[in-house]
Amino acid sequence: MAKLVPPERASRDEIRALQLQRLQWSVRHAYRNVDHYRRSFDAHGVHPDDLRTPADVAKFPFLTKQDFRDNYPFGLFAVPREKVVRIHGSSGTTGRPTVVGYTARDIEHWAELVARSIRVAGGRAGQIVHIAYGYGLFTGGLGAHYGAERLGCTVIPMSGGQTERQVQLIRDLRPDIIMVTPSYLLNIAEEMAKQGMDPRASSLSIGILGAEPWTEAMRGQVESSLGIDALDIYGLSEVMGPGVASECVASKDGPVIWEDHFYPEIIDPDTGEVRADGEEGELVLTSLTKEALPVIRYRTRDLTRLLPPSACSMRRMAKVTGRTDDMLIIRGVNVFPSQIEELILRVPGLSAHYRLELARAGHLDTLTVHAECAGESAAADDSRERAARELAHHVKSCIGISVAVHVHPPGAIERSVGKAKRLTDRRGA
Ligand code: DLL
Repeated sequence: MAKLVPPERASRDEIRALQLQRLQWSVRHAYRNVDHYRRSFDAHGVHPDDLRTPADVAKFPFLTKQDFRDNYPFGLFAVPREKVVRIHGSSGTTGRPTVVGYTARDIEHWAELVARSIRVAGGRAGQIVHIAYGYGLFTGGLGAHYGAERLGCTVIPMSGGQTERQVQLIRDLRPDIIMVTPSYLLNIAEEMAKQGMDPRASSLSIGILGAEPWTEAMRGQVESSLGIDALDIYGLSEVMGPGVASECVASKDGPVIWEDHFYPEIIDPDTGEVRADGEEGELVLTSLTKEALPVIRYRTRDLTRLLPPSACSMRRMAKVTGRTDDMLIIRGVNVFPSQIEELILRVPGLSAHYRLELARAGHLDTLTVHAECAGESAAADDSRERAARELAHHVKSCIGISVAVHVHPPGAIERSVGKAKRLTDRRGA
């Protein structure tokens, strides 16, 4: 019989029962088939039989990015290499890349979850989806692509870059949905204006945006400049790719974690202790169905909170504040680029393009904010100085640190074509 209730609307009891059964399978599958897990569970004195409730997963050791590096390339795979139909990877900023693999069934599940993500964002079969996430080893392009096809959409596999062509194709093919990083979408909107097109008058009505942190203020900016609904999609290559969690258009209150395929925990990043729902900490994910690369308690390094179900019956995550590795410590105060982003967008006349520069004066780290004015009307020297003073004042009063602010003329800040690089570290220079 056809399933009438979509998985994201199942009752909490049904979800919990499914989670337990799948967790037990996943932990056992990892233990039986991956040397790394067998050694680390044994060293920790835990066995798959110890998992009797979902919360028991906390007895198991974490998996980290370093474990991926140590087992490069295929050491964490739980199936013979011939069963792996696809490889993705991340280049990483230092050292070895990370390699991940998928069986045919893993690809099916991934496509289903991205299709669900597009559906809860308001997308429907028959619509046209323009994909401007990069194709290739990065999971963004192909992950979005398979999901959009699975939903029954017409896919334009544009990939990132060639911004003028992006705009031409949007104008000519009239897509309904765009899947892209929020920073690159703003870049595309600017190019539309440059080509004499009103970004609000384009055919687009939905943006499914992720792969980088972005704030509520940025959502406001994107929605007003393009006249679309902007929804947040979250994921990471080690755990699958885009579509681990995604936001519902009905509530726009943080990505819903697809709990039938992933079990989330929030931990204290320093001690590893599990924190209660609602408290901020590092997101840890366990895969429930992955065959090729089961991840048991993967430390994402992303900081967020678990929130109760709202429009769907699965738990949500708050918008990611930042990564533990992106936290700046300025004269003893912890700062995330996203906090600065919120404040920039509060200042009239500043655009959403910015860059942060970290330097060292003596023993102290200093932060310079490079912002940009939104249009020619705000570009006069005295308006730029006023905006700079106002931003420095907001940073001082809301975050408690003194920063230097430079407001540049429109177009001066380098634009992204994928994940925006917000921080330049000149401390070593
Ligand atoms: O960025 C997968 C993806 C592609 C997600 C397209 C969404 C859309 P990685 O390159 O492995 O995979 O980078 C994963 O990016 O740990 C977060 O730090 C960050 N990230 C991803 N989505 C979001 C989001 C893809 N919606 C890393 N909000 C993650 C904030 C995000 N950060």
